[in-house]
Amino acid sequence: MLGLASLTAESSPTGPSNLDASEWSRVMSSGARYQAVDRSALLGTSGALSVRLRNPRCIPPVARDAAKPPPQPVELSVKVGILGSGTVGQTLAEGFAKKGHDVMVGTGSPAKLAEWAAKVGNLQVGTYEETAAFGELLVLAVKGSVANVVLGGITAENLSGKVLIDATNPISDAAPEHGVLKYFTTLDSSSMEKLQRAYPWARFVKAFNSVGAARMVDPVYKEGRPTMFICGDDPTAKDTVTQVLEQFGWEAADMGPAEAARAIEPLCMLWCIPGFIRNEWTHAFKLLHD
Ligand SMILES: NC(=O)c1ccc[n+]([C@@H]2O[C@H](COP(=O)([O-])OP(=O)(O)OC[C@H]3O[C@@H](n4cnc5c(N)ncnc54)[C@H](OP(=O)(O)O)[C@@H]3O)[C@@H](O)[C@H]2O)c1
Repeated sequence: MLGLASLTAESSPTGPSNLDASEWSRVMSSGARYQAVDRSALLGTSGALSVRLRNPRCIPPVARDAAKPPPQPVELSVKVGILGSGTVGQTLAEGFAKKGHDVMVGTGSPAKLAEWAAKVGNLQVGTYEETAAFGELLVLAVKGSVANVVLGGITAENLSGKVLIDATNPISDAAPEHGVLKYFTTLDSSSMEKLQRAYPWARFVKAFNSVGAARMVDPVYKEGRPTMFICGDDPTAKDTVTQVLEQFGWEAADMGPAEAARAIEPLCMLWCIPGFIRNEWTHAFKLLHD
């Protein structure tokens, strides 16, 4: 039986800490399943990809027990290209940088980000093309209605084979109705399916679209880790995104192929309703398992 709960944030903004040696030993002897790290398969692309692991021991599985915080994933260091410089782009860029990844943020106007980039310190800013070329892992974080325009301006080879986290939502410019956002898609299709069809050389995974930017990195809730619903056609790409989500303090729930974006994208509508009608913006979803 599945249930969907909404979590309310605790006040502490800090995320769980890394395991020390004794904790690793305890977890390793507990019978939990572990997945060995395969460096070449980590991002699931060809051998041309260079991925550096800080600690090539093991990656913990997704944990489902809210009472027992799951072990932290081994820290990875990959080159991440964030396509988009709004609240989401900047939040995820700072999150990836904080986790030790090399980050570049892509925008239509690199100059306007100079002050912010200097303040954050350990990331770069570039054009969309430069950012796609830089990233081994890409994140799409632009306004939904311009996603196709932005991706269409990038040379195919700079997207080719790459895992692309799609954090966008197809929100139309029309005003919400009684707190319910309007979308420019219907329930028989989704933005990500269209993008995946238009750019088959990239490997899209929907994630980070159904929570506010302020809770995307290291969310803290007394009920445990919140759930991020993901989907996409490439299982290896979803494995990579699952590891990213674990590193960011989330439990990933794989809803299947790209068609599931028809259900995941509207979760943003649901998530926003308490915000629009009660000014509550700190919740997150959690999937409960029997
Ligand atoms: N805000 C949230 O809490 C949240 C949470 C989950 C998902 N999302 C989704 O994440 C995406 C990004 O949201 P956001 O809040 O960060 O900001 P946003 O205003 O939706 O998007 C900002 C980004 O879109 C680009 N952009 C906006 N209008 C454009 C236009 N007309 N032509 C070309 N580029 C344009 C901007 O380009 P420049 O860099 O050149 O300015 C910037 O990179 C959206 O799809 C949103 O639905 C948002």
